[in-house]
Amino acid sequence: MRNAAITGWGMALPEQVLTNADLERMVETSDEWIVARTGIRERRIAASSDTTLSLSLAASRQALQVAGLAPADVDLIVVATVTPDMFMPSTASLLQRELGAERAGAFDLAAACSGFVYALNVAAQFIRAGTYDTVLVVGADTLTRMIDFTDRGTCVLFGDGAGAVVLQATEAPVGILSTLLGSDGRGACHLFVDGWGTGIVDDEDRTALRRPYMKMVGSEVFRFSVRVMGEAAEAVVKQAGLTLADIDLLIPHQANIRIIDAAAKRLDLPRERIWANLDRYGNTSAASVPICIAEAAAAGALRPGMNVVLVAFGAGLSWGATLVRWGTDGVERRGGGE
Ligand SMILES: CC(C)(COP(=O)(O)OP(=O)(O)OC[C@H]1O[C@@H](n2cnc3c(N)ncnc32)[C@H](O)[C@@H]1OP(=O)(O)O)[C@@H](O)C(=O)NCCC(=O)NCCS
Repeated sequence: MRNAAITGWGMALPEQVLTNADLERMVETSDEWIVARTGIRERRIAASSDTTLSLSLAASRQALQVAGLAPADVDLIVVATVTPDMFMPSTASLLQRELGAERAGAFDLAAACSGFVYALNVAAQFIRAGTYDTVLVVGADTLTRMIDFTDRGTCVLFGDGAGAVVLQATEAPVGILSTLLGSDGRGACHLFVDGWGTGIVDDEDRTALRRPYMKMVGSEVFRFSVRVMGEAAEAVVKQAGLTLADIDLLIPHQANIRIIDAAAKRLDLPRERIWANLDRYGNTSAASVPICIAEAAAAGALRPGMNVVLVAFGAGLSWGATLVRWGTDGVERRGGGE
């Protein structure tokens, strides 16, 4: 049985920090409200020199270095993003050019905050099927470019960033062991950015909406996310033939600490078995899970043999989960690093 193991990881964040105190000067809010209702204290904001591509590139270079691979070893690049640098070509194609990954196919995948988990699962299928041996999977977003900084209901929640992992083929029972992808398009109206796509056919509307902003019904998204996070995590654990007691680490999408706590309660997981960094980065959309992976790996919190559940939700409404057995057993090291 061919499996897909995570052999490299990396992350990149803009340097510019926006604190809750900064937001107090921009909208009617308070540090106390934001911390109590979300758990977020500060977030990183893309400067004019930061783009989804530039952050993806930095995270990808790190991930390849950790894996000990050269760009030419990569067979496929998948970038999960809803904030591509441009409509076309894909950010993945631009990343391929910047990396010099000349052998790789490349495409973007749009599943909003669930994007990285979706992309990881799609990439793993190519490896399981024997089509490819080495896939670079990136989750990257610069959502603050689509945030209305006069809307206190959204502007306190989001930050920018990118994370990347390298997936490699192995015959050992490690890597992505079970997967789940979900969608309920009836909830599309609860979280969306309009004025951006070709659905706007009237030229006047297009001009009026030239700056597209995110719109959200927070309470609806909250209710949905609490339910699907727990359900999806449970489902992938069961699919892998394990029980909740076997979960060593939960890496949830970083949207709101209250959502994470509710999921943890349902899964009966203590705080020390949950990775959370949203106090520092806010919700970085598709980047949140791979940033957590890179942080947890660097901190030594991911050890061979551990059962790690990745779970995310977002616009769509969409959700996804994966059970990863951490480790690189049986991975053939072909490259020599950059
Ligand atoms: C957005 C969210 C933090 C709001 O928290 P909440 O507890 O649901 O709060 P409510 O929306 O019920 O609002 C409560 C009050 O706080 C106010 N409020 C909203 N944002 C505020 C802010 N930044 N500062 C101060 N007050 C705020 C509201 O206007 C409301 O006031 P009212 O009662 O006078 O109308 C929460 O719903 C949430 O996190 N939802 C999920 C969003 C998400 O994760 N989106 C991304 C998915 S990938």
